[in-house]
Amino acid sequence: MAAPAIWTPRMTTTRVLYLIACAAGPAQFVDEGVRLAQAAGWDVCLVLTPSAARRWEPRMTELEQMTGHVVRSRYKMPWESDGLPKVDAMLMAPMSSTTLNKWGAGIADTLAIGLVSEAVHMGVPVVAMPYFNQAQGAQPAVAVSMAALRAQGVTVLDGPEGYESHPPEQGVPKAFPWGRALSSVERILGTRT
Ligand SMILES: Cc1cc2nc3c(=O)[nH]c(=O)nc-3n(C[C@H](O)[C@H](O)[C@H](O)COP(=O)(O)O)c2cc1C
Repeated sequence: MAAPAIWTPRMTTTRVLYLIACAAGPAQFVDEGVRLAQAAGWDVCLVLTPSAARRWEPRMTELEQMTGHVVRSRYKMPWESDGLPKVDAMLMAPMSSTTLNKWGAGIADTLAIGLVSEAVHMGVPVVAMPYFNQAQGAQPAVAVSMAALRAQGVTVLDGPEGYESHPPEQGVPKAFPWGRALSSVERILGTRT
């Protein structure tokens, strides 16, 4: 049975976006995604998978100063505080093929997957833009996982409307279309309010 939709749009001026990044190429430019979202008026909270966090480890303070929030990458212990405000929308970008397949199979072994997999069943708008090459995308599990996510109400931005997989070794992570992903979040929120 589907969980009840308990999310309602916030009526305050500053909307909160959880930007959730996996260890795919564009994660190294996640600060660009943060900047664009902030310019669009979002209060951005950044969540990284543990693998993505490893890559940002030396510059984590920079991300925390930029967002004004703790950057979370692990489930909290019961005695730890959440540290993040109530969310209005979640954007997983970039989504790695590994996280896609785990999420599609219902395996929430990272905070990143735990957040999105529960949020979508609480009525929170959840958008995911993948980034992986055509060889990774050719795994049968990828199409199955995307279908599983869409069936749950996740907006998966692959193909011409989102990110179209590149041939192996021809990815340009810096050109990841953060703006397209953010526009999609806006569109979805606009249809719900
Ligand atoms: C240098 C490097 C680049 C990678 N780029 C990608 C990528 O663009 N897309 C992807 O799906 N996986 C990529 N991977 C593999 C993922 O990092 C790997 O599957 C990892 O387990 C993903 O973990 P996460 O989904 O929890 O972040 C890359 C790995 C390395 C070492």
